[in-house]
Amino acid sequence: MKRVGDILKESEIKFNEALLLLSGLLNTDKSTLVAHPEMCVDSGTYSMWQTHHDRRLAGEPIAYILGSKEFYGLKFSLTPDVLIPRPESELIVDRAFEFINMGLQGGNNKVLVLEIATGSGAIILSLVNKLSSCQLLDYVDLTATDISLNALKVARKNARALNVEGVRFVQGDLFAPVAGNKFDLIMANLPYLPHGEAVRNEYEPQIALDGGDNGDELINRFMQEARHFLRPNGLILYETYGGVIKELTFDTMSKQC
Ligand SMILES: C[S@@+](CC[C@H](N)C(=O)[O-])C[C@H]1O[C@@H](n2cnc3c(N)ncnc32)[C@H](O)[C@@H]1O
Repeated sequence: MKRVGDILKESEIKFNEALLLLSGLLNTDKSTLVAHPEMCVDSGTYSMWQTHHDRRLAGEPIAYILGSKEFYGLKFSLTPDVLIPRPESELIVDRAFEFINMGLQGGNNKVLVLEIATGSGAIILSLVNKLSSCQLLDYVDLTATDISLNALKVARKNARALNVEGVRFVQGDLFAPVAGNKFDLIMANLPYLPHGEAVRNEYEPQIALDGGDNGDELINRFMQEARHFLRPNGLILYETYGGVIKELTFDTMSKQC
């Protein structure tokens, strides 16, 4: 048996990270561990802690060690096949919700939503959760795509865990899986790191990070294709380098292209 207070004191990783890792392992919250340093863990759990601790010491992200990450207040399961969702992408959920809500108030009776490159499903599933809590789910039609089948497995698992049934998950390159369809709202967080920067990240999947030599290969292709899939009055929300969220309307797109 080992006391929680001693485990945290002996840890060689940052205190906050140790707290997060240990609370994840013990399935409790951080404040409980701080309030009860006298709590004991059995030898099996301690040995698992040592493994987790050493993985973190070697540089592995905590989200992969624990197999989950919080996004938009929800817990998402993760595997090394998917990007760890970043807090800056939460802005896409907020803006998407605002757009859908305004569209419905303005008389649109069904909003067609597409997410390209869904990864763990964090963005679209958080949006569903928010729409559902406002009883708006019946008024949206949702599709999410990714080129990675393994990522889609994670997204589907997260949908089940969150009791979400309405999202159509389809595999393929950018818009290929939705050929012939048009949407009111298109969201995307595509790989946008320049190749040289992406390869320095040894934990997250290169397919989720690497945007080619300058980082803009996927985004440029996405922009070229997107105008054929956007309905008049539609909106495109996408993330670019540095976690900056940009938006384009049907009108601004038509002028650009
Ligand atoms: C930056 S991650 C974003 C994941 C998730 N949307 C998020 O914000 O956490 C990019 C995703 O794009 C997917 N991807 C890469 N190339 C793609 C392509 N050509 N078409 C569709 N998806 C692609 C990757 O598999 C990865 O899941």
